[in-house]
Amino acid sequence: EKGGYDYFMLKEIAEQPRAVADTLLGRIDATGRLTLDEVRIPDPVLREVQKIVIVACGTAFHAGMIAKYAIEHWTRVPCEVELASEFRYRDPILDRRTLVIAVSQSGETMDTLMALRHAREQGAKVLAVCNTNGSTIPRESDAVLYTRAGPEVAVASTKAFLTQLVACYLVALWFGQARGTQWGDEVTAVVRELADISAKVEQVLATMEPVRELARSLSDRGTVLFLGRHVGYPVALEGALKLKELAYMHAEGFAAGELKHGPIALVEAGVPVVVVVPSPRGRSVLHDKMVSNIQEIRARGARTIVIAEDGDEAVVPYADHVVRIPQTPVLLQPLVATVPLQVFACELATARGNDVDQPRNLAKSVTVE
Ligand code: F6R
Repeated sequence: EKGGYDYFMLKEIAEQPRAVADTLLGRIDATGRLTLDEVRIPDPVLREVQKIVIVACGTAFHAGMIAKYAIEHWTRVPCEVELASEFRYRDPILDRRTLVIAVSQSGETMDTLMALRHAREQGAKVLAVCNTNGSTIPRESDAVLYTRAGPEVAVASTKAFLTQLVACYLVALWFGQARGTQWGDEVTAVVRELADISAKVEQVLATMEPVRELARSLSDRGTVLFLGRHVGYPVALEGALKLKELAYMHAEGFAAGELKHGPIALVEAGVPVVVVVPSPRGRSVLHDKMVSNIQEIRARGARTIVIAEDGDEAVVPYADHVVRIPQTPVLLQPLVATVPLQVFACELATARGNDVDQPRNLAKSVTVE
């Protein structure tokens, strides 16, 4: 059932183009309108929403962090994202004009379930973004949008993450549509671009051999750092989480702008630093800031592994390794930028002799608080 792959994780990474395409299927019509009729929250209720709160754990939380950028930018509705295990216990401010989005692959994560129960008790509406039909989280929510990743067997989440992102982008666009948010050119371009994402993920997967080679060459390292800005920041956190859970290595993700506020002290000669570079097109100020961050860490001896768009030549002088990803609108970049980090962690962990499907101390669904 591993379909010729040594590990479920490898199979699930390879299935991502299909998982992404399936999650989009039938949800955007030919005119670019979102058709999420399955999400049974009436438009008048949506129009009253004054705040969105996303709750999730682990990888699903990283999807939520990315969703926040998209929701606020496209809809101008305030959005918070919080670890489900923290949210529940700090007396959050919620009422019937709050929409809570609970993101969960398994639909059984106890922390997320307790957070959504608490939200509903306070009168908030809850929308589940979930991969498992009929699981507890969607059953206890007001509405659900299913991701269609198919069963995810490996403990580390890969294809579920990409489909959570797709589902969150769809929710953001649909929410904007229901509220009559001005549909700028950028959003029209994004809707069009989503249709090409599956092919772009495929393209990334086809060029991963140098990443695997690099991962094997780093298998004896103690630490790997990850840097990102904007939506690249949660991607960096996700890259670090994958490496921790699979390779049992010290790995940390940072917002690149925070470097100078402390973490740069960790950079010493030879430390591999993976940098997720924003597109030089669009909001190019982000890109330029990131290039100076790469310069700064390189000057301190870091070995820079730079994930950058095709055609981005500005990074080349400061990169020990460049990993190319296709050009993608800024907010959608995580869909392509995460893939090399998954491959990197999987290969590095395998080189260290670890079972990537069953990492030590971890369970696929965490049904205790
Ligand atoms: C990481 C991972 C976990 C889960 C987290 C939430 O690879 O798999 O961090 O993402 O336990 O699980 P779900 O999405 O099932 O609620």
